[in-house]
Amino acid sequence: MKIFAIETSCDETSAAVVEDGVRVLSNIIATSLDLHAKTGGVVPEVAAREHLRQISPVVDQALFEANCDWNDIDAIAVTTTPGLVGALLVGVNTAQSLAYIHQKPLIRVNHIHGHIYANFLERSIPPAFPFLVLTVSGGHNELMLMKGHHQFESLGETLDDAAGEAFDKVARLLGLGYPGGPIISKLATNGDASKYNFPRPMLKDEHRFDFSFSGLKSAVRREVDRLADLDDQVIADLSASFQEAVIETLTDKLLLAYQENEVAEVHLAGGVSANRALRKMLQEKMPSNTEIKWPVEQIFCTDNAAMIASAAYFSLKK
Ligand code: KG4
Ligand code: ZN
Repeated sequence: MKIFAIETSCDETSAAVVEDGVRVLSNIIATSLDLHAKTGGVVPEVAAREHLRQISPVVDQALFEANCDWNDIDAIAVTTTPGLVGALLVGVNTAQSLAYIHQKPLIRVNHIHGHIYANFLERSIPPAFPFLVLTVSGGHNELMLMKGHHQFESLGETLDDAAGEAFDKVARLLGLGYPGGPIISKLATNGDASKYNFPRPMLKDEHRFDFSFSGLKSAVRREVDRLADLDDQVIADLSASFQEAVIETLTDKLLLAYQENEVAEVHLAGGVSANRALRKMLQEKMPSNTEIKWPVEQIFCTDNAAMIASAAYFSLKK
């Protein structure tokens, strides 16, 4: 079964064709990142207008690269929530029109569920249930237990900033570009992670699986205000120390959830799952027999339509 999917929830206009939920025939992504880099963050109105400009060529290219025409497509999927409303509307209107014109079923997909299904793409051995999955992106920070397809049990989420958002805000604070995650993680490789002792916000009791990163961001701000001269080494040390605080918090929460739930595997998903230091720490801290997974390709970590097609396929099958 071939599903055509559209994703426009934030700053990536994407369309994809995926076969049987796992085989990616095309995954076209047009990003408006360069425009948002100028403003240090996504301006919703700008993102929506860029989607309008990009959506038609991206849709055409996705069909072309998959070597398909509309007769080959069994269903159309689209991200409906959560996301920027103006941005989502472009994708939803396009998907609804295509479904109407070509007489295909339309499948609505939640963006976070899409990130989780990115781990099913292009894998020779599919993930095994039950598993824990931590979705860490610019807008979301959610820890879930999955006992089967589309059985999402939320254990915790962020009470304020998502992890990716914290990376982006700290990057802005340090005068670096957007998005902050890849820049900070690169600078961190030249920095000393023990130079500054930033807080590891571990909440307790019923909030033990929730996250809070705004205090950490404020701690970095106070340190930046205190330091007179932000030379390259200071910025590298701040980046490394901040990154260490984020990834240690994420890893320790996952470890705690692992100890309390009997699961076969632990997964990372979303933009921050591309972070190499996070992957390494997780591998070091988890018991050695734990199966740890993240998307097999870098582009499946950040926003893309292939993951939406996969989530739609398994929902349709269910
Ligand atoms: O999943 P995504 O593309 O969009 C949302 O759904 O939000 O995630 C984007 C986020 C940004 O905040 C970006 O800074 C972060 O993912 N990110 C990273 C890395 N690559 C992207 N954060 C840390 N390390 C990275 N290597
Ligand atoms: Zn996302």
